[in-house]
Amino acid sequence: MHTLKINGKDLEVKVDHDTPLLWVIREVAGLTGTKFGCGKGLCGACTVHIDGKATRTCITPVGQAIDAEITTIEGLDPDGQHPVQKAWVEEQVPQCGYCQSGQIMQASSFLAENKNPSDSQIVDAMTGNLCRCMAYNRIKKAVRRASDEMKG
Ligand code: FES
Ligand code: FES
Repeated sequence: MHTLKINGKDLEVKVDHDTPLLWVIREVAGLTGTKFGCGKGLCGACTVHIDGKATRTCITPVGQAIDAEITTIEGLDPDGQHPVQKAWVEEQVPQCGYCQSGQIMQASSFLAENKNPSDSQIVDAMTGNLCRCMAYNRIKKAVRRASDEMKG
């Protein structure tokens, strides 16, 4: 039995310590905003924050997340009003939407650490998050817009 803290709430889970955290988030916690894509750490669809850092949950064993603060897309902002979420709406980023929660979690973690990124830093930070709908230009614009808002 492990206790995980997800979006500020404790969750008791009875799984092996090497179970992928993604499985617990989706199947045990029922938080299905986090997506399964490649299962190999290569696409970013499963990204959440662990202690604020963007983390691929498909390759993160539950045992590594004990005692950590896990934040999923559902917990990023109680009203969906995080500057990155607002910028995503304003730039109309999503197409099919499948990759989007991972993109938002990646971008919000990046902007928490880098308040004034250059365009190339934005591209570098987002490069591991794949989008089969090729929304990359809109993603970049939305990260820039969110950065501008966060700087005030
Ligand atoms: S599903 Fe985790 S990186 Fe692709
Ligand atoms: S919006 Fe469809 S995969 Fe990115």
